[in-house]
Amino acid sequence: MGRRSLGKSNSELDVSAHLLSFECLPQPWDQAQIFPLRQSLEVEIGTGKGLFLQRQASAMPSTNYLGIEISLKYARFAASKLARAALTNARILHADARRTFSAHFPDASLSGIHIYFPDPWWKKRHHKRRLLTPDFVRELTRTLVPEGIVHFWTDVAETYEAGLAALGTDERLQGPHPVSSKEAEHDLDYQTHFERRMRLRGKPIYRSEFTRV
Ligand SMILES: C[S@@+](CC[C@H](N)C(=O)[O-])C[C@H]1O[C@@H](n2cnc3c(N)ncnc32)[C@H](O)[C@@H]1O
Repeated sequence: MGRRSLGKSNSELDVSAHLLSFECLPQPWDQAQIFPLRQSLEVEIGTGKGLFLQRQASAMPSTNYLGIEISLKYARFAASKLARAALTNARILHADARRTFSAHFPDASLSGIHIYFPDPWWKKRHHKRRLLTPDFVRELTRTLVPEGIVHFWTDVAETYEAGLAALGTDERLQGPHPVSSKEAEHDLDYQTHFERRMRLRGKPIYRSEFTRV
C-alpha cells in the first residue's frame, strides 16, 4: 500500500520541543527529562502522521504519550501536529522502535503499547523485517507494567495472524481480547490515518488487545 504525499509543512513552526532524536534520549531512562509531568507512559510504534497520538494525548492529559517513528519525514509531520496543538504530554521520537526498546526502556516502565497498521512486508524473504517477532514481543512484555496493554490492529489478515502468533509466544501476555469498533462521527473520527483509509474503502480491520499478567 503506497503512501500519500504529506503536503506542505510550515517550516517556521518550532517543533524542537516535540521532536526527539535517539541520541538525545536520557541515559539512564528518565521520562521527567522529556515530559513536564512524571505520569504513566504509553508508547505508539510507527506513528505515521500522528492522528492517534494527537487525539489520545488531548483526551488523556494525565498520561504521557511517546510516538516512535522511523521515517524522519513522518516524524516531523506528526511532531508539527503536536506542536500546533501545544500538547505537553505527547512527543515524537525519530528512531527505530526495536533499538529504542532494548536500549532505553526499563522493565515495567510502560502502561500501554500501541501498534496500528504495521508495515506488512508481503514478500517471504522480507518477513524477518516484520515488527512483531517473538524476540521483540519479549521486549514489549518486559517493559509493560502488570495489567499493561498491547493494542494491535491491522487491515492485513496475514499480518494479523503472524502478529497474534508472535504475541502468543510469551506466556506473560494474556489475549487476544476482542476490541469493538464504532461508527465514525466525523471525518477524522478514526484511530489512525490508515484505519480511516481502510474503513472508507470498506476493508475489514482486525483489532486485538493483550494484557500483561
Ligand atoms: C503502515 S504505516 C502506519 C502508520 C500509522 N500507525 C497509521 O495507522 O496511520 C507504518 C509506520 O510504521 C513506521 N515504522 C516501520 N518500522 C518501524 C520501526 N522499526 N520503528 C518505528 N517506526 C516504524 C513506518 O515508517 C510507518 O510510518
